[in-house]
Amino acid sequence: MTNTDVDASGAEPRVDGPPRPAAFSRSAETAGWVASRYEDVQLVLADDHFEVPVPDDVGASGAVGTISWLRSSVSRFVNGAEHDRRRARLLEQLQQLDPDELRTAAAQRCHEALNGANRPGDRVEAMVLLARQVPMATMASRLGIADPEGAAMAVIATAAGYFPGSSPAAQKAADTATAHLIGMFGSADLTVVVARIALMVQACDGTAGLIGGALNALQDGPDAAADWSTDALLAEVVRHSSPTRVIRRVARGPIDVGGCQVSAGDAVTCDIGTANRDPAVFGRPARFEPGRPSPKPNLSFGYGLRPCPGSAQALALAAGVVDTIRQRCTFLRGAPISYEPAPALRIPQRLDVVLG
Ligand code: HEM
Repeated sequence: MTNTDVDASGAEPRVDGPPRPAAFSRSAETAGWVASRYEDVQLVLADDHFEVPVPDDVGASGAVGTISWLRSSVSRFVNGAEHDRRRARLLEQLQQLDPDELRTAAAQRCHEALNGANRPGDRVEAMVLLARQVPMATMASRLGIADPEGAAMAVIATAAGYFPGSSPAAQKAADTATAHLIGMFGSADLTVVVARIALMVQACDGTAGLIGGALNALQDGPDAAADWSTDALLAEVVRHSSPTRVIRRVARGPIDVGGCQVSAGDAVTCDIGTANRDPAVFGRPARFEPGRPSPKPNLSFGYGLRPCPGSAQALALAAGVVDTIRQRCTFLRGAPISYEPAPALRIPQRLDVVLG
């Protein structure tokens, strides 16, 4: 986010309103189709002609405890009935994670993290210690792990190698970390262990992106930012500065989308950041406006056949952390911000706050 993204003046950049995103079309850049309009993204994500792409190593007989084995075991990279079965197991485990309890526990853990290593006036690097460690240790503790801090570090390493395309070094570190996580769950049934690890690994980077986006908005926001409620702030970060950049699908068979003939095997990229600013759905879409009326949900947590099942938990964890940082820290206005090179997620690389 740049300073101009947070426009408190009320002025729109164009008097006649911004143009709509391009209609569903082919893109040389992504070597496939791109859906950028709100209704096109909804259509793709709700139609079972489209499936998640399956990484090459999924289904290969990787040894238990490797990252390749984890990818082959979770719901995230399968389709059809097997996805439904694995997702049902996730939802059972998710019931242990009550959002209100998570919020309180994350706030308390964030206080402890700030007390532990810092004195008033110290700079604290928020992205690792507060945006990743605190939510993951909070989840690990609620899921029954005896060493939540150790588990948080293992989840962070597993998440860095979870998606195909991560570096060989990240995959290697993720192998070790995944095996370590399995050991931490002791003798629990392996399908239950997979579901619990999947919840934490899926939560890790997206939640860090959400917290980082909120801290960035507070850092560079107008004076009125102090009056934004944390809940309204997070809801607007999810829409305006979506932690999810894109969601990918592959066509299972031929299908017509708005007059475009999509063939079996064609890739489709849903551009979530753009769809969340579609002026046909969100008034003054470029304006960062916590508390804005939202007649329709934004698409950052997905939509349709397999949306994020952890959105309430994500918002609760982020709220606990952001509430505490707002109470205890000040922000470095205008500090430059860069983003991790992750193609599908928007996560600040580094963001410092100052302990009050
Ligand atoms: C406690 C935090 C979170 C948990 C437990 C969680 C859990 C999950 C899980 C298990 C899935 C896979 C669902 C399936 O296979 O059917 C998923 C998907 C997804 N999550 Fe989350 N998540 C969290 C935070 C977030 C955040 C902060 C975002 C972004 C705002 C996000 C965006 C998504 C999206 C877009 C998908 C769907 C991907 C697709 O359709 O291909 N998640 N999440």
